[in-house]
Amino acid sequence: MSSDQRFFDFLKERIGLDVTSVGPAIIERAVRQRSAASGAASADEYWHVLQGSRDEQQALIEAVIVPETWFFRYPESFVTLAKLAAKRLADINHRRALRILSLPCSTGEEPYSIAMALLDAGLQPHQFKVDGMDVSPLSVEKAKRARYGKNSFRGQDIEFRDRHFTAENDGYRLDERVLEQVRLEVGNVLDPALANEPPYDFVFCRNLLIYFDQSTQQQVFEVLKQLTQVDGVLFIGPAEGSLLGRFGMRSIGVPQSFAFSRQHAPPPATATFVPTPLPVRQPVRSVTPPPIRSRPFATVAPLPVMARTTNPEAAVLLANIAALANEGKSAEARAACDSYLRSHEPVAQVFYWLGLLSDVAGSALQAQGFYRKALYLEPQHPEALMHLAALLQSQGDTAGARRLQARAARSERAADSERKR
Ligand SMILES: C[S@@+](CC[C@H](N)C(=O)[O-])C[C@H]1O[C@@H](n2cnc3c(N)ncnc32)[C@H](O)[C@@H]1O
Repeated sequence: MSSDQRFFDFLKERIGLDVTSVGPAIIERAVRQRSAASGAASADEYWHVLQGSRDEQQALIEAVIVPETWFFRYPESFVTLAKLAAKRLADINHRRALRILSLPCSTGEEPYSIAMALLDAGLQPHQFKVDGMDVSPLSVEKAKRARYGKNSFRGQDIEFRDRHFTAENDGYRLDERVLEQVRLEVGNVLDPALANEPPYDFVFCRNLLIYFDQSTQQQVFEVLKQLTQVDGVLFIGPAEGSLLGRFGMRSIGVPQSFAFSRQHAPPPATATFVPTPLPVRQPVRSVTPPPIRSRPFATVAPLPVMARTTNPEAAVLLANIAALANEGKSAEARAACDSYLRSHEPVAQVFYWLGLLSDVAGSALQAQGFYRKALYLEPQHPEALMHLAALLQSQGDTAGARRLQARAARSERAADSERKR
């Protein structure tokens, strides 16, 4: 059953997922799970089932994607969006509503954050509309339900929850006022029909391109370009900046916003600022480590990682670095890393964070150096392996990326059998 190219090809064709971006082990596991669930006795039998059933095809897709997302992820980008939106409305003389796209929207946190940020910034409901699209019908269904649990609110400062949600049973129900701003539908970024959509003023396509191979990235980028007005802005994930640079887009120059334009946009400092102060604050993420094996299609954005140290004081410092980095406080996080290295034995985790901070700041070479130091200290450090692989892949070093993924998969298999013992 394992390493069956047919399944890799199927997923690549249907959703663009490149096996080298996530490593084969993750897809193999999803195939094993679905095969067992459908009662197939062999790979051939499961392949046959898959070919004959749209539902099973969708189930396999659902098994490889991970709808990892939360409200106000990369908070600075929403602050920037609000400023740019106010300026754009002025530029077009308020003649029409702004069009904003979130693709992929996953379970809705991203498009709803866009709507909340704009309403909080003083925009009127008739002044903008948000479209959210995702290839996963299950995720879109959840997004439409608009009921959220704690995991969707990962900050300490979650004032927006009091303003826009009503507590209900174990979770929170999003208010109609926000819901009405967002239209959700199932959609595949590979669907050629997307190119016929009227272009958007702002497009959010975050944490998706990184999972495609170069030719799919190019293809999707062309679609995104068509979907974005010539003078519009494209928001992407932190690890995807170097890609857009290669495709001739330029950062608009606002740190931590990961916003790109076709032509050099004036920095938001010269933009027409919205009169209402922005209530969007930077959330501090939980420091609970997401198990890497349950995040097959997971983000490569800053992730909380458990301190791997037995020294409690060092553990607190590492948790602090994680919190600062996840809050988008890059300079403080970097300073905390330097201070850690001055006062403690070097550990892989600190070099991993330095790598990630450099990566996010666009210093790919420096990031590589830090990831390699992390791997020197801890050769199977899962996040360093994954991020370095993604970096190499984005630079076209597929062989290097593949080697690291194989290493990550081997270490994961070893951990798996250790757990079973
Ligand atoms: C990690 S989430 C990103 C969500 C959100 N943009 C964010 O950054 O928080 C990745 C999403 O991409 C979706 N996805 C994967 N392949 C896709 C495709 N070909 N077209 C549209 N969505 C896709 C998955 O269903 C999943 O919900």
